[in-house]
Order: sequence, then structure tokens, then C-alpha cells
Amino acid sequence: MKKILTVDLPGRAYDIEIERGLLSRVGERCRALLPKAAQVFVVTDSHVGPLYAAQVEASLTQAGLGCTVHTVPAGEESKSVERLSQLWEAMMAARITRTDAVIALGGGVVGDLAGFAAATALRGVDYIQIPTTLLAQVDSSVGGKVAVDLQAGKNLAGAFWQPKGVLIDPEVLTTLTDRTFSDGMAEVIKYGCIRDRAFFDALAAWGSRAGVMAHIEEVIYTCCDLKRQVVLRDERDTGERMTLNFGHTVGHAFELAGNFQDCTHGQGVAAGMCQAAWLGTQLGITPPGTEGEIARVLACYDLPTSLPCPWPVMEEAVGLDKKNAGGAIRLVVLEELGRARVNPMERFALLELLARRFGG
Ligand code: GLY
Repeated sequence: MKKILTVDLPGRAYDIEIERGLLSRVGERCRALLPKAAQVFVVTDSHVGPLYAAQVEASLTQAGLGCTVHTVPAGEESKSVERLSQLWEAMMAARITRTDAVIALGGGVVGDLAGFAAATALRGVDYIQIPTTLLAQVDSSVGGKVAVDLQAGKNLAGAFWQPKGVLIDPEVLTTLTDRTFSDGMAEVIKYGCIRDRAFFDALAAWGSRAGVMAHIEEVIYTCCDLKRQVVLRDERDTGERMTLNFGHTVGHAFELAGNFQDCTHGQGVAAGMCQAAWLGTQLGITPPGTEGEIARVLACYDLPTSLPCPWPVMEEAVGLDKKNAGGAIRLVVLEELGRARVNPMERFALLELLARRFGG
């Protein structure tokens, strides 16, 4: 059965639609969401395009929308200024106008890249997210954060640009590899950790990919609903939205240590959540035993609890983290499983604690 959540931002409200088989009906949904559009510019990647682009194109064309499909190579490297520039040029070559729209068909990389192209081309055109990975369905497609990476770091050029709609078909998850499914599970478990103890316990009980897939609409709905509530209270990421970065500070160090190749974002976040739970306990905020509880759930989904990270990389990552403000850092900690808060602290104090585990 179709589930709908409304992200009720003033003047920019949109729906997240979750329904099995929705991909075959995207034409009719896009037609309804984009009444003025004559054509759409679909951005996809070299993994997703061969699986789903023809179906999406046929559905859009049948609904009376002109359609150009633009495929970028799969992988984080496509979130670059160079790809963005090629995308802008391709949009102009396709004669996209301000009443037309971009469609992001793919995972987080495609969503961020296509969303940022939409935010900036012609001073902003509409876009629709059709996320095809678990990570994109439960996190990155919702909330309007779009970006590309710079040499200096990930997501450093971006915008807040809310989509006109998010169309989620859980059936596309069946073609994900186990590694990519686990990647998304880290963010799913994160929502349980930061906002919903009962959901955390359910993930522990379901205990496997098959167990989660048996409840997938409920899982996606719960995550999107939790994110929606946070985004409504703090769209611009100045307070509560930062709690969505639980596990990301040390997780970023793990990703950097592996050159963003050796581990997925989700593996970095998973290991980062365990470290954040340990740090919270050292600070007297997180109850002892929380790290172990998180580790047990992560193990069910083949996610790590720690990863190698040379000390200089840890120092660099904690120093460059976007949540830094001057010499202070905002570490997301758990007051208990299901309740997170942002804990401002001095960077050197955080590094002193981390040195106990990662110092040379
Ligand atoms: N993925 C974190 C956020 O959207 O704020």
C-alpha cells in the first residue's frame, strides 16, 4: 500500500511517496508534480541507467514529457565540479527552460549532483528525486541538501534546494549488492540510535537483510518520517539537524584513512557510531554498554565497529570536519539509545580522548 509523508516547509512543501512498483508509474507522478514542464532532464549513472533508465524514460514519454537521459560514471568521482559543468552544458544543449525539471535517478551521488545542477542552472529549476539505493531512500534524497565535492573535501560546494517530490520504489532495492544494502543500513541504524529506541530494537530483532526487506516500507517510512521532522525544525542545519551526523565525525576520519575507497560511507558511519558512543561514555553522557548494544546490531548487517586510522589522519579529519566552529567541535552524542544531542567541545579535548584509542 502507498505511504505518503509531507515535508511541509512553508512555500516549498513536497511529498515523499513510498510504493512498490512506483517506478513504472513515474511518468504520471512527474506529470502531476510538474504541471508546467514540457520536458525533463534525467540524470543517472552507469550502474542504475542500464537497469532502470529505459523504463523511466518510457513512462515519462507516455505521460507526455520530453525526456533527455544523461548518464555519469557510477561512483563518488562523479560528484565533481567537472561533471557538474558537463551536466549544465548538456542541460543547455537539451534546451531545458526554467519551467522544465531535472530528475535524479540513482543513489546519493546522482541525487547530490543532479540536485545541485538543478539548484544552479538557470538560477534554479525544479527537480524530483527517484532514489534507488537504501541510503538515498532513507537519507540523502530527503531534506534538500545538494552538493559536489572539492579538492579540499566532500560536499564543500552545495545548496539547500528542496525537491518537488521524492518517489521511492522499494522494489529497486532487490538489485543492490549486499555491500550497498549494508551501506544504507548504517544510516537506518543511525535513526534508531538518535531518535527511536523501539525502531533500534526492531532492527536488532529483524537481524538480517531478509528480515529488514520483509518490513521495508515501514523501515523507509520510519526513517523518512524521522528525517522529515528534523528538517522541518532545522532546515538549514544550524542545530537539531546536526544530530543526523551521529557517527560522522570519526566516520569521516575512517573514510579519509581509506581514501574514500577502502570502506563505504556506511561502513565509516557504522564504525564512527561505535566510537561516538564510547566518546559519549567517556564524557559521562552516554550510558556504559551503549557501544556494545550498537555493535551487536551492526554485526547483524555486516557493518564494522572500528576501522584502521593512522593518528595524523584522525587529527586532520577532526580538524577539517564541517561541524567545527573555530577551535570548538560539535560532537553528536547519545543521552541514551534513541536520544541524541549536539555536545560542543574543544577540538583538543576530543583529540585527547581519541588518542586513547587511536594515538600512536
Ligand atoms: N544527511 C544529513 C542531512 O541531511 O542533514
